[in-house]
Amino acid sequence: MALRVTVRGAGIIGLAVADELVQRGHDVRVVDPAPAQGASYAAAGMLAPAAEVWHGEDDVLRLGLASLALWPDFARRLGVPLETGGTLLVGVDAGDLQQVDRQVELLTRHGVATETWDRREVVEHEPSLARVGGGAWVPGEGRVDPRRVCAALLDRVPVQATEPPESWRPDVTVIATGSVLPDPHCHLVRGVRGEILRLRTDDPPTRTVRGWVAGEPVYLVPRTPEQGVSAEVVVGATSEEHDGAPVVTAGGVLRLLAAARVLWPALDRAELVETTVRDRPSTIDGLPLIGWTGRPGEMLAAGHYRHGVLLAPLTAQVIADALESDHPDIDPAVDPRRFISDDSGGVHVTHAQR
Ligand code: GLY
Repeated sequence: MALRVTVRGAGIIGLAVADELVQRGHDVRVVDPAPAQGASYAAAGMLAPAAEVWHGEDDVLRLGLASLALWPDFARRLGVPLETGGTLLVGVDAGDLQQVDRQVELLTRHGVATETWDRREVVEHEPSLARVGGGAWVPGEGRVDPRRVCAALLDRVPVQATEPPESWRPDVTVIATGSVLPDPHCHLVRGVRGEILRLRTDDPPTRTVRGWVAGEPVYLVPRTPEQGVSAEVVVGATSEEHDGAPVVTAGGVLRLLAAARVLWPALDRAELVETTVRDRPSTIDGLPLIGWTGRPGEMLAAGHYRHGVLLAPLTAQVIADALESDHPDIDPAVDPRRFISDDSGGVHVTHAQR
């Protein structure tokens, strides 16, 4: 049965959900006064569940790998390029190399294949990389340009700036407003500031490089150049808890540039074309909120933190399946009902915080 659905929020998550629901024959209205201008606008577009995972994030890895497997079909449906080539992890000094080793150990324990490369092998694969201590390659990972993905979704799913008229009563409302949720859910997500840079260079890496430079994590994500234009490299990202409006800081730009040019000296000659800052939507346990809220006809698709682009196709599927099922079987790791709002709007965590 076709349902009437309002999707609030037209970032990559809201748009992917809306697109999936339209594909399945539902009647969907998407509402956002500034479509695709939130975290999706800043996102580097790494499809790198293994390279981006930290210790204790088993569910993030599991969900990320499941969503990575959906990306080739999703990209084909939207007609956007999906670059593969894997992710190269590199460390500059001995401490940084230990970080790479720890990551490899973690991934091996989870059955994710990696190849350890010595300094010579790293340079064979990425000749313009600086002299690093060594690294490891995570095959199978990829990258997309989130702005192209959102533009393709916006071509398929119209967005309106204001709520539909009262006469259009939705059966279901999906809240996908990223780091700013409406009451009573606003406590579930907080913004974690992330600054990124975009540089134009004729000597970009051929794959995503995630490095540690004297303890400072940094990543370089190349964008495939359009004809006649130099390639762009996205350098990211700072990560800071804050209360005020997100602004690009001199310190953030300095830290990113300093680390990035140690890894990739050619960036000294690159044109700095953009600095951007957005809030990542982060939850208490670092996992997204996907599914019914427990209030009639209301679902959440939010709180994706560092993984919104990667998890977009999986989120769309989970929401659409849950909406169509009489007995939705939501993964407890993402079920918003793991958080119970009390009368005062406060939040209890119902399983161990990670
Ligand atoms: N996923 C990369 C970041 O959040 O910086």
